[in-house]
Amino acid sequence: MVTVRSFAKINLGLRIGALRSDGFHELLTVYQTIALHDVIRVQVGRGSGVEIRSEDPRVPKDRSNTCYRIVERTVAALRARGRVVIEIEKRLPVQGGLGGASGNAVTALLALERALKKELPGPERLRIAAEVGSDLPLFLVGGTVLGVGRGEEVYPLPDLPAVACVVVTPEVGVSTPKAFADWDGMQAAELTPAEPSDRMNEFGRVLSAWLSAPGRFKDKAKSGKGLSGVSARGRGRAETPLLDLVRTGIENDFERVVFPQYPELLEVKRVVERAGAFYASLSGSGSAIYGLFATRTAAQRAAAKLQKMGVKALATSTLTRRQYWNKFLVSGF
Ligand code: C5P
Repeated sequence: MVTVRSFAKINLGLRIGALRSDGFHELLTVYQTIALHDVIRVQVGRGSGVEIRSEDPRVPKDRSNTCYRIVERTVAALRARGRVVIEIEKRLPVQGGLGGASGNAVTALLALERALKKELPGPERLRIAAEVGSDLPLFLVGGTVLGVGRGEEVYPLPDLPAVACVVVTPEVGVSTPKAFADWDGMQAAELTPAEPSDRMNEFGRVLSAWLSAPGRFKDKAKSGKGLSGVSARGRGRAETPLLDLVRTGIENDFERVVFPQYPELLEVKRVVERAGAFYASLSGSGSAIYGLFATRTAAQRAAAKLQKMGVKALATSTLTRRQYWNKFLVSGF
């Protein structure tokens, strides 16, 4: 049995571009993995087929589960035999903008490779992940990841020092396809809509300027080592790239369609900001909302305050690429 951690992600800004002929939208986003995770166990036994097990009734056990679909494809691509049993220990919200199901699928693929002692070539893995969903491939990279295309084309960005955050998971369920359709409707209704490509280019320029600022990623030695408080004294600009990124004013376009429909989510964002976050945003199409904090203590205090108000909130931290892969495997065989 192979046991792995399936981490969640947040989006540090997300821009929606033109609707493509294949029905997907052009997307530009910065994904960031965080320490919140589910646990996935994979076993290969005699027989054939795929079996999904989970104590959580919200987890589908059939082909509608992304784990099921990715495992079928992986078994075929590896020309492997056997019955694959996937156990999903759900700790993350099932619907939420945190990429929970997507991360589960990718980690199931990687755990299966390990269980079979067979590996797919990197590009093949990425192809299979992208076939199953747009926000799967990011989990093959981890850390801070640039997402382009329909979000499935991923490029590792320099690792940012880990930052404390609070993740709020409201009960509301937001449908991603509907949020995209609402975005199209909103753009069509605008009197002078900006060209989608102009908006994408603008976002791209902001990211390029941020990435190429002198001294941005100088301090490599510390980047993999836990939290570095952004307010800590004596630390230079090079250690606060995440703070600088969110200060560029990057936003999540989904907020413009989701908040008017679910005003309670905008209220949650305001509460997170008032609780001391230096940046708060909807993640993906929601309904998860996160806040970034200067220190772990500040994040814990804010989470406690939110919980007292009856809001489901968890204090956690962002995960660097190194941390993501170091913590990935729980146990081998
Ligand atoms: O790729 P994924 O299965 O996550 O996409 C779910 C749905 O979200 C798609 O069928 C599509 O309607 C919409 N989508 C989109 N543009 C994207 C990603 C997803 O329109 N870039």
